[in-house]
Amino acid sequence: MSDNHSQTPDLDESNSVLTDAAAAARENQMRTEGAEPISLWIILCSAIVVLIGGGVLFGGNFFDYKNFVKSDYVRQDAPGDGESKMIPKTAILAYSKIGEKKSVSCKGCHGNNGEGSSAIPPLAGSEWVSGPSLRPAMIILNGMKGPVSVAGKNYNGNMPAQGDGLSAQDLAGLLNYIRTNLGNSDDKLITVEMAAEAIAISKERGGGQITAAELDEKYNRDLKGEPLDPNTLVNPKTLEPVAAE
Ligand code: HEC
Repeated sequence: MSDNHSQTPDLDESNSVLTDAAAAARENQMRTEGAEPISLWIILCSAIVVLIGGGVLFGGNFFDYKNFVKSDYVRQDAPGDGESKMIPKTAILAYSKIGEKKSVSCKGCHGNNGEGSSAIPPLAGSEWVSGPSLRPAMIILNGMKGPVSVAGKNYNGNMPAQGDGLSAQDLAGLLNYIRTNLGNSDDKLITVEMAAEAIAISKERGGGQITAAELDEKYNRDLKGEPLDPNTLVNPKTLEPVAAE
């Protein structure tokens, strides 16, 4: 300790010029007059004065974006902003998102993966799901009862109609979701127009659960219209295809 002490003496402890110089070197350096650093407070206060002054001089428009761009400059919306809020999605994603939401009630009976149970037929691997597209549409809209064979097994249950409050968008989403998910893999999508056709046909039929026999006899066909390529870009709200830029 005493060693240390003698190497860094305080001023009043020594008369040696060398140790005095060492002590002085530890003090803050003196600046020549006029070259002292400005206090941070002065810098901040000046900044505030300049900003307020600027605001007054420019009539409060000092910070206006328009002051810094050419008058005829039209700023483009950032993606997802304003008019162009819509960001196109591929049809498969847009339809499936709606379909997945709407399929919650279906899964309550048909199972989370559409696997079915001993009394309820599966959606996974079902020829009623991936076959002619008018059939699953009519089942959803009207419900179903009576004997039915699904993926080689026989069932005779009772499905209530699921069409209440279902828009053409919802129905198309549902159909596409169950036909491209839950173990099924259709590569063409049902459009909103095609789903609207099914809703019209179902209205005309007049209600009541449909049977497998009736489906085979009257509704064993595809919905009319050109199916959609899953990679088509669509508006995620309206599901209308958007032109590629
Ligand atoms: C309350 C239970 C229940 C709900 C909810 C339900 N289903 Fe069904 N579904 C059944 C039963 C039971 C059958 C078999 C009817 C029969 O035996 O005739 C069936 C049959 C089907 C069939 C034909 C057979 C097959 O398995 O492929 C399809 C397709 C189908 N349902 C789709 C759906 C969809 C899509 C939803 C949701 C929008 C849905 N179901 C909601 C119980 C239900």
